[in-house]
Amino acid sequence: MRGPDGTGAPTAVIGGLGSWLPPNVVGNADLAARLDTTEDWIAGRTGILERRICDPDTLTSDIATTAGARALRSADEDGAEAVVLATTTPDRTCPASAPLVAARLGLSGAAFDIAAVCTGFLYGLAVAAGLVVSGTADRVLLIAADRFSTLTDPQDRTTVPIFGDGAGAVLLRRGRAGDPGALGPVILGSDGAQRDLITVRPSGVASPEPGGARAGYFEMQGRKVFRHAVERMGEAAADALAAAGWDVADVDRLVAHQANARITANVADRLGLPAERRVENIARVGNTAAASIPILLAQAADEGRLRTGHRVLMTAFGGGLTWGATTVLWPDVKPRTDD
Ligand code: UT7
Repeated sequence: MRGPDGTGAPTAVIGGLGSWLPPNVVGNADLAARLDTTEDWIAGRTGILERRICDPDTLTSDIATTAGARALRSADEDGAEAVVLATTTPDRTCPASAPLVAARLGLSGAAFDIAAVCTGFLYGLAVAAGLVVSGTADRVLLIAADRFSTLTDPQDRTTVPIFGDGAGAVLLRRGRAGDPGALGPVILGSDGAQRDLITVRPSGVASPEPGGARAGYFEMQGRKVFRHAVERMGEAAADALAAAGWDVADVDRLVAHQANARITANVADRLGLPAERRVENIARVGNTAAASIPILLAQAADEGRLRTGHRVLMTAFGGGLTWGATTVLWPDVKPRTDD
């Protein structure tokens, strides 16, 4: 918001946007042919019709680098002082994947990963905004990239249909509240007591917490997660609106983490937002974890569903449990979704 003298509080602004999706499309019919499921079950329970899956040789650092390069080009920048990578599927447990991504982009500033599962992009926005507002970095490249196809048990009908692979990125610069692209305050939360609702237990290493038969595979207690997701995203979104000084009526577009079309509809209903103000892409990409929101932002802006000046409300929920929400005044940026 602008103060009486026309100036706003320092904040971060989105100056560029990029995304990448694997070319390999896996439709519901493909899954119904090899799993104990049906096209109707998947579409009806999740809203997902197809998802994109990486080939086995493609690493998270590869897809993160492509999305990051696209965001830099979208912002007309040749570099950034920091690279923050939100991911649950890093190339290696150690070191983080962000330094390799930075090196491939020709960058040698700060580079580190953030692990907040499907809320990773919103946690990343808060951290990246802190870096620019504090003066640590003039420009931060925030990338969210995940390959959940490497985590799901190929025989598990309860998880395989839900997830897709992909990457998205934004370039943040210093600006002021009210500027095009300005982020509002970011609301974040967690509840570690519920960590077993979404988890990958350790495998292959000596661990004081052995993973058992499901070790190394993604596990989710879907019905409980569904309920938490609706409540937490609804509450966080309401808190983000209050912190930004916006009313629900001010919101032009809701961009919610694409976990399930029924979850997004429930969150919007709780907030009192009509269907035409929701933007969605879950039918085409499934749940792409941390990458979900930036991929949706890029597609929606590309297709004109997000337009300059729109007041956008973003919210996400994921393992941890973690959740978050924030607002952004949509900037005049041309997203890059190809090279
Ligand atoms: O991104 C992080 C956050 N993730 C989420 O927010 C995901 C939240 N949860 C969900 O989206 C939903 O809970 C799911 C889509 C995962 C599952 O939908 P649901 O309506 O909650 O189904 P359910 O898990 O309660 O299962 C209902 C039935 C079960 O059979 P019984 O026990 O009623 O006989 C399942 O075994 O559906 C069965 N089922 C399937 N049937 C056909 C589970 N998966 C499948 C499947 N095909 N793929």
